[in-house]
Amino acid sequence: MSRDAAMSPFTKAVYEGFSASPKFLPSWMFYDDRGDQLFRQIMAMPEYYLTDCEKEIFESQGSSIGEFVAGVSGQLEIVEPGAGDGAKTEILLEKWSSQGCQLKYVPIDISPHVLNLLKDRLSHSLPKIDVRPLALSFEQAFEKLHQTGSKRLFLFLGSNIGNMPMEKSIEFLRKIRNMMKEEDLLLVGFDLKKDPEIILSAYDDPHGITAAFNLNLLRRINRELGADFKVENFSHYASYDPVSGQARSYLISKKQQMVYISELGRSFAFDQWEPIHTEISAKFSTGEINRIATQSGFQILMYFEDKRAYYRNVILGPKLKQDSSV
Ligand code: TRP
Repeated sequence: MSRDAAMSPFTKAVYEGFSASPKFLPSWMFYDDRGDQLFRQIMAMPEYYLTDCEKEIFESQGSSIGEFVAGVSGQLEIVEPGAGDGAKTEILLEKWSSQGCQLKYVPIDISPHVLNLLKDRLSHSLPKIDVRPLALSFEQAFEKLHQTGSKRLFLFLGSNIGNMPMEKSIEFLRKIRNMMKEEDLLLVGFDLKKDPEIILSAYDDPHGITAAFNLNLLRRINRELGADFKVENFSHYASYDPVSGQARSYLISKKQQMVYISELGRSFAFDQWEPIHTEISAKFSTGEINRIATQSGFQILMYFEDKRAYYRNVILGPKLKQDSSV
């Protein structure tokens, strides 16, 4: 028990994930320095349409979004959990500040590395914007976000909402809802259900970048916890189930093997063809988006789609209790 208390969150997550059946690793673990770099390569591949769609929406409709969210005061504090390198957000920041908005930007990410890149880039491209990164988990960051007088816009982009099981995503949005003032808004990116072949190739590309990204989890465990994974003994496997709308990624143990993790002082057994589940990326229908919004205490105020209707950005506002308007 005392040992459990002394474990770092990373060590604890590996221990829990490898003790479970089926084995799993949580998706925040992808993003060490190498993982960030590989994810940026994923976002740049043609098969990974999500980033292109969201960029297209922001390029073509970002000004209308800005007019709607900034309102009359033109002052806005933008809070973004899971900001990553902020490349998509920068399109909005650029448009909105040239529309005359006064912006403060609070990017939140588990990776200090990407936040440093982001802050450096913005200090050159948009020096007028006050950028205050928080290199923390969402829970830790949310505790630090005290009430402010200024209007806030929360951003949750990249269909990161799909990386949680449905109940978790509702719980997560409700947490954001509870931090919001009546006038605050939330902009969420949802990847829509579409041709299953198109979805699958976004998670199983022919260049092997997604495979390298997934396998990097094992290299990270080797590096940070002194494990002896032979990475070549595992393969990347992705599937898409059009019924649930879930793309799932796995690492598959190609042979029966033992892996020693020195930080934990013990070995874990992997059967031949045993999977480690590493990621869910859910795809959404209109009905599901409506349900998530309503159940987490929001109303949908507006939405924007790319030309192919692959992807939707939805603006949500707190649903006011019926009696508060009387
Ligand atoms: N948030 C991204 C997504 O779900 C992360 C991601 C992209 C990912 N490709 C992946 C995670 C492959 C695991 C494996 O789309």
